[in-house]
Amino acid sequence: MAKTRPQAMKPNDGCVWITGASSGIGAALALEMAKQGWQVAISARRQTALDEIAQQHPHIHAFVGDVTDRAAMHNVVMAIEAELGPIALAVLNAGIYLPTALPEFDATIFDRTFEVNLTGTINAMSPVVPLMVERGKGRLALVSSVAGYGGLPTSAAYGASKAALFNLGESMAMDLAASGVGVSMIAPGFVKTPATDVNSFPMPFIISAEEAAKRMVAGLAKGKTHISFPKRFSFFLRAINMLPRGAYVRLVGLTKR
Ligand SMILES: NC(=O)c1ccc[n+]([C@@H]2O[C@H](COP(=O)([O-])OP(=O)(O)OC[C@H]3O[C@@H](n4cnc5c(N)ncnc54)[C@H](OP(=O)(O)O)[C@@H]3O)[C@@H](O)[C@H]2O)c1
Repeated sequence: MAKTRPQAMKPNDGCVWITGASSGIGAALALEMAKQGWQVAISARRQTALDEIAQQHPHIHAFVGDVTDRAAMHNVVMAIEAELGPIALAVLNAGIYLPTALPEFDATIFDRTFEVNLTGTINAMSPVVPLMVERGKGRLALVSSVAGYGGLPTSAAYGASKAALFNLGESMAMDLAASGVGVSMIAPGFVKTPATDVNSFPMPFIISAEEAAKRMVAGLAKGKTHISFPKRFSFFLRAINMLPRGAYVRLVGLTKR
C-alpha cells in the first residue's frame, strides 16, 4: 500500500540534485531553484565551470562526477546527503547530442550517446532511488526531449536514447508510486545552450535556458508526470506523432537537411 501518493517536492523536503549543471539548462535550473529557496547540489565533470555557477548563489554547491561512472555517482550522492541532507528531488539532466550521419554507420556514436543519456541516467538513479524509497518520498525528473516522441533526421542515436527515457520513466512511475516516490519526464523543445549553439539548421520556437528553467520549475512544483515546452512546438510534434507511422516518416523525412 502507498505510504503517500507521490507529491511535488518543496524546499523544506530536502535538497535538489541536478546532473549536467555546469552549463545550459542545468545551470539555469540551478540558479532558478536557488532563487526559489532550494538548497541546490550541482554535478558534472568540469570543476571550474561548476564552481563558477556555485559562486553565483550561496545555496548552490558543486560536486564533480561523471554520470558514466556508477561508483562516482554513488560517491556524489553520499557527499551531497552528508553536506546538504536528504535529496528530495533529483533532476537527471546530463546529456549529449551527437548527430548521426547515415548512411555512414558509426556504432560508436550510439555507444557514446547511450552511455551518457541512458546508462548515465540509470547510474545517477542507482544510489538515490533506494534512499528515496526508504524515506517514502522524493521525486526523480528525467530530462528527455521532444526528439524522443518519434524519429527525427540525424537523431537515430539521440532520439532513441531520449525515447528510452520516456519508457523507463513511465515504468518507474508505475513501479515506484506505492513507495511515495514520483517520476517526472521533461521534454524540452529547442533551448539555446552550448549544445544547440553549434547547430546550423533552423530551430523553431527556440527559447532561452532561463525560460526553460522557469517552465521546468513550474511543472515540478505541480508534481507533473510529463513536462514539455514550448507548448506549441511540443503539441505539434505530439499531433504529427499520431499519424500512421508510414505517413509520419514520409512527412518528417521531407525536413531532412
Ligand atoms: N538544448 C536543447 O535544445 C535541448 C532540447 C531537449 C533536451 N535537451 C536536454 O537537456 C539536457 C541539457 O542539455 P543542454 O542543452 O543544457 O546542453 P549543455 O549545455 O551541453 O549541457 C550538458 C551538460 O551535461 C553535462 N555532461 C555531459 N556529459 C556528462 C557526463 N559524462 N557526466 C556528467 N555530466 C555530463 C555537461 O557538463 P560537463 O561537460 O562539465 O560534464 C553539461 O553540464 C540534455 O540532456 C539534453 O539532451 C536539450
